[in-house]
Amino acid sequence: MKLIFLGPPGAGKGTQALGVSSSLNIPHISTGDMFRSAIKNETPTGLEAKRYMDAGQLVPDSVVIAMVKERLAMDDCANGYLLDGFPRTVEQAEALKDISEPDAVVNIDVPDELLMDRLTGRRVCPKCAGTFHISKLNDPTICPVCGDTLIHRDDDKPETIANRLSVYHAQTAPLIGYYTDNGKIRTIPGDKKPEEVQKAILSALE
Ligand code: AP5
Repeated sequence: MKLIFLGPPGAGKGTQALGVSSSLNIPHISTGDMFRSAIKNETPTGLEAKRYMDAGQLVPDSVVIAMVKERLAMDDCANGYLLDGFPRTVEQAEALKDISEPDAVVNIDVPDELLMDRLTGRRVCPKCAGTFHISKLNDPTICPVCGDTLIHRDDDKPETIANRLSVYHAQTAPLIGYYTDNGKIRTIPGDKKPEEVQKAILSALE
């Protein structure tokens, strides 16, 4: 299955993508993770992306589209993929249609007022890719799964989150209408417990 996860920053796309991609046996492709890895490795793409990400802005379409095109050409995408964080503009959606037409779009819907707390409290594990909220951790610095040191993402500061939310509403939310028009979207309430959200996504995809 060729699947897209759509939703605002903090909706739970990454949290849900881990279980859903493994249930459907398709690779989880997060453009945000690809950029963070490029930044860590100081590649030209990473150096360009960093200034946009630090400001809470979108990386230019041409850069993201080229990166995704290369990734989707890899062997592990032959039977499908789960794209998390792409497309984020109508131009990216149009480009994807030409590269590889998606089968379904899951829109994870969470009210803005919940997102700021989710993101300021998020901690991520660089080793096992786990995503946690400080309210659920005994020690907010240690990964409860693998014991590595947890990271507070640079773009999870309140002022950057506010920019990311307004960029989402201006540039990404129009994709809900775009995919509604072609009948591919399933909107799932994302303000329930993570396991309930997962169940709802899998049942919507049956
Ligand atoms: P990216 O990494 O894609 O960030 P994002 O879309 O802003 O999404 P997040 O990772 O912040 O949130 P999420 O929905 O995955 O939530 P999560 O599961 O972590 O992009 C970062 C940047 O890269 C962009 O700003 C942009 O600059 C650039 N970029 C990336 N793709 C691009 C593109 N296509 N075009 C241009 N630029 C691009 O959960 C969040 C928190 O909530 C966690 O603490 C989690 O534990 C908690 N949580 C999750 N689910 C629940 C639940 N059901 N109940 C309670 N808490 C929950």
